[in-house]
Amino acid sequence: MCGIVGYVGKQKAVPIILEGLKRLEYRGYDSAGLCVPGTRGLPVVKKAGRVDTLAKEVAQHKLTGTSGIGHTRWATHGAVTDANAHPHVSSDGKFALIHNGVIENFAQMKTFLGRKGYTFQSETDTEVLSNLIAYHYAKEPTTPGQNRFLESVRKTLRHVEGTYGIATLCVDFPGEIVAARQASPLILGVGDAEYILASDASALVSRTTNVVYLKDGELAHLTPKTFSISTLDQADVSPVVDTITWSIADADKGKYPHFMLKEIFEQPAALENSMRGRFSADGSTANFGGLNLTPAEFSAIERLMFCACGTAWHACLVTEHLIERFARIPVEVDYASEFRYRNTPLDARTLFFVLSQSGETIDTLAALREAQRKGYRVLAINNVVGSSIAREADGGIYQHVGPEIGVASTKAFTSQLLLGAMVALYLARMRDMSYSDGVEYVNALKSAPDLVRQALKLAPRVKAIAKRYAKSRDMLFLGRMSLFPIALEGALKLKEISYIHAEGYPAAEMKHGPIALISEKCPSVFFAPKGELFNKIVSSMQEIKARKGPIIAIVTAGAELPKGLADEIITLPDCHEAVLPIVASIPVQLLSYYIAVERGCDVDKPRNLAKSVTVE
Ligand code: AGP
Repeated sequence: MCGIVGYVGKQKAVPIILEGLKRLEYRGYDSAGLCVPGTRGLPVVKKAGRVDTLAKEVAQHKLTGTSGIGHTRWATHGAVTDANAHPHVSSDGKFALIHNGVIENFAQMKTFLGRKGYTFQSETDTEVLSNLIAYHYAKEPTTPGQNRFLESVRKTLRHVEGTYGIATLCVDFPGEIVAARQASPLILGVGDAEYILASDASALVSRTTNVVYLKDGELAHLTPKTFSISTLDQADVSPVVDTITWSIADADKGKYPHFMLKEIFEQPAALENSMRGRFSADGSTANFGGLNLTPAEFSAIERLMFCACGTAWHACLVTEHLIERFARIPVEVDYASEFRYRNTPLDARTLFFVLSQSGETIDTLAALREAQRKGYRVLAINNVVGSSIAREADGGIYQHVGPEIGVASTKAFTSQLLLGAMVALYLARMRDMSYSDGVEYVNALKSAPDLVRQALKLAPRVKAIAKRYAKSRDMLFLGRMSLFPIALEGALKLKEISYIHAEGYPAAEMKHGPIALISEKCPSVFFAPKGELFNKIVSSMQEIKARKGPIIAIVTAGAELPKGLADEIITLPDCHEAVLPIVASIPVQLLSYYIAVERGCDVDKPRNLAKSVTVE
């Protein structure tokens, strides 16, 4: 939530900051702003609206400086206005600050600063922080050998409760930036005679692949010649420079009109990358490098607990189904936001998993910490290398699907389904699953990319269906067993990008309430795969049809519906139970995408949403 960019180097800062903001726009797009000092003062340009609006405004100003900061906002404190956009300059004009996060004790600070004569132009917590830095700067004497700018920020942050990724400029220290993080991501790119700060790697990978992932409680001090990292307690930190393994092309739309469509079509490759090198040599089980648990420790597990938010939570539900079905170990799934406060009684032999594409979702991070606080080991399935969750987990599995930019998660979701299925296999093979069943399961997983390729060929058919139903006000998504979570996911995808009210239900539950919504204007998307519950699902369809509800049926090859029952039929290849949820996700991703496009919605930047939710 909110994107931060900072630049110190020899190039003109404006184009670099604007490009970075454009790439971070998916993190928030309520307003954007930048500050690029020249010869005098801290000139700020900021506007409500998108980065393009900011770029037009910036073109009216002559900003030629070689350092600066920029921000794209997802509003927390205060409405979406020019005044609330970042950067925020302290009332003495000495500091400009950008911030991602929430300062929880800002009200007390504001009262304190008001009494000291500081004034405020906005409703934000960030402006309070910039003034508090100014207060410490004015108050504290300079200690020889210390940088007064850096020390003022450090002193200020010791008083802050809440979360932040910040970058700040000081009028008295041209060409320098002080940045810091606490629970909001911040990366430092170490380039050729330049440094770039960003909330995530997509904003800096065009300039460097050498990065330092700042940790909570660390400050970075950048000057045109060097950088240093230290802690809130003034301890120096030796920076570890990591290398980003993907390139700028991975973060571009390429030939696609939207990131979401590109990412939908990237799924066969994404699945291949997620499973590469992760099967045993005998081809009968999964093989994970980073779990940091011995086989004996795994065998001793008597219960699993999964926590996540949103789409990742749906992936947990599918994983629950597969682990219970194949490994026969009880699994519990909870929303991370609930778990962190619920104080769930836990058994000593419980293994914890959290799932998160970004690795920065604050509720999931808090659930991880809560479980660790209680003495549990927490493993993470996570896509973003170096993210907070990846760093704090006791072990885990990287998804390796490359950057996911579309706000609506697609390739990260199916990759989580795949890795969840592999965890189920791993546990099952430690218990009762035979070698030959293991080989069959592994072969099924290996066929997933091809099955997804076949499902993607249905895109023109799904597009035509989408056109017919794009004006609906409500839609139901109905599935059973491992496809119930895919029904939830289909409903979430549709509502988040097309703003159509949609609900996911277990198909048989529909008659306990949602059936009241059914009319010729409310279509139902049914998952009806071949299998033991097929006839039961057909009965549920009959109940909808009897009430004139249109039916879009997603079946698998060989599942014959009674003639005339469904208005639309999408036929997927028949597949193994562990792979079915992955393949069944494709038509609902495509359906929501094409409906959203048909309705003229901004698919990659749906209203009110942000890609990673780093505030509670
Ligand atoms: C996905 O389409 C959503 N935008 C959202 O539910 C997302 O899955 C959720 O915020 C969790 O994100 P994470 O996987 O990065 O933790």
